[in-house]
Amino acid sequence: MAAATHAHWSSRWAFIMAAVGSAVGLGNIWKFPYEAGEGGGGAFVLIYLLFVFFIGTPVLIAELSLGRRGQLSPIGSMKKIAQEEKRNPLWGLIGWSGVVGAFIVISFYSVVGGWTLAYMVKSAMGAFSGIDAATSQSTFVNYISDPVWTLVSHFAFMAITIFIVARGVEGGLEKAVTVLMPALFAILIVLVVYSGVTGDFNAAINFLFNPDFNKLVTNDAGNFSLDKVLQALGQSFFSLSLALGSIMTYGSYLTRDVNIGKSALTIAGADSAVALMAGLAIFPIVFAYGLDVAGGGGLVFMSLPIAFGQMPLGVVVGTLFFGLLGVAAITSSISLLEPPVSYIEEKTGLNRRKVAIYMGIAAGLVGVLSAYSQGNNLLSGIRLFGLDIMGVKDFLTNNIMMPLAGMFTALFVGWFVSRKAMMDELAMEDQTFRIWYFLVRYISPLAIGIVFVKIIYDTVVG
Ligand code: PHE
Repeated sequence: MAAATHAHWSSRWAFIMAAVGSAVGLGNIWKFPYEAGEGGGGAFVLIYLLFVFFIGTPVLIAELSLGRRGQLSPIGSMKKIAQEEKRNPLWGLIGWSGVVGAFIVISFYSVVGGWTLAYMVKSAMGAFSGIDAATSQSTFVNYISDPVWTLVSHFAFMAITIFIVARGVEGGLEKAVTVLMPALFAILIVLVVYSGVTGDFNAAINFLFNPDFNKLVTNDAGNFSLDKVLQALGQSFFSLSLALGSIMTYGSYLTRDVNIGKSALTIAGADSAVALMAGLAIFPIVFAYGLDVAGGGGLVFMSLPIAFGQMPLGVVVGTLFFGLLGVAAITSSISLLEPPVSYIEEKTGLNRRKVAIYMGIAAGLVGVLSAYSQGNNLLSGIRLFGLDIMGVKDFLTNNIMMPLAGMFTALFVGWFVSRKAMMDELAMEDQTFRIWYFLVRYISPLAIGIVFVKIIYDTVVG
């Protein structure tokens, strides 16, 4: 039986580090701080935290418990539990959506992961010293348009991911995360302190935390809109790594003695703390150097290098910053390769090393399409519904597969698995269980459903 040979985390600490590693990623560092600032500072942060703890965490608990109960890949676990509960085998589709979704996401996540490695090297070599805005922009565009270097960095990032995953749960994942996550926290603290001392800390605090509820519920045109609220909800889901099979797979390596509810709260707390600290590391620099606050790739790869090129110790700070981003991306990408690898391993009985290598290379090759769709690279002319290839993959996973899988996970656990089985699995105190059960039955599915309908409405009508 697969269950007998299935690997397990050697300690709760290792599991927590792995799950926090999955949750803390590019999303925390380049998306959250900007969204918070633009979404009304403290008002956005408040609503984001409410979503993380009252809508995301209940689903996080659901996924961990499904994984642990199934002790198989997301597909195997979902099918097995559906069968045990005498439910339709089609519930296995949640597992399929996770495994396929993770494969698609890693095929573009690793491209950006490659950029962070390349920029770490560039920074260490002093490439940013004294550059102005125009040079910084052309440096980035030239780099992402270069078919050779984007390929090299993408496959280098993928090779690191494969190397870790190939070594298995204890020998690979655990070893990597228990070294990398403390390193990530250390670098983050150094950067927050450095930024706070040398940058414009007050402006950053003001941007991130000054609550402006009006800004939260108005759009750029000044009209009432819930766009930012819904964005906060989507971000909370992505940030907790939900609905891509990652958390369910990590749950399947859990032993029975770990308390899932408490662990989930720790994971959600650490993930949120890192997102806020990332803002405190980035925005003092942004304001001190008069950079554009805009988020995403533009901020990280075009704006910040200008500051790194001018500040004292800029080479060190810049290298640390891209190192931080790289570590955050790698500990997330291993959790994305893991679901497809665990499924193929289970299905074929091939050894993990082989499966990790083949699966990683396959995702890497599909990823070339994403890498080449950026800038003026070879496939940048290809557009589908106005999106480049990377954009299409992002839209499909983030806006369609993930909300649907998340909603059905909550519905499955809340309505189709027996209450008794959930109580046994979670071993929570009665009152806590009741709160969780209410959230996962009603609140999470409803909230995710609203976001999904809104996305579809905007896509079709807007
Ligand atoms: N949580 C990661 C981030 O914030 C992304 C991720 C999503 C990783 C789903 C694994 C699974 O960047």
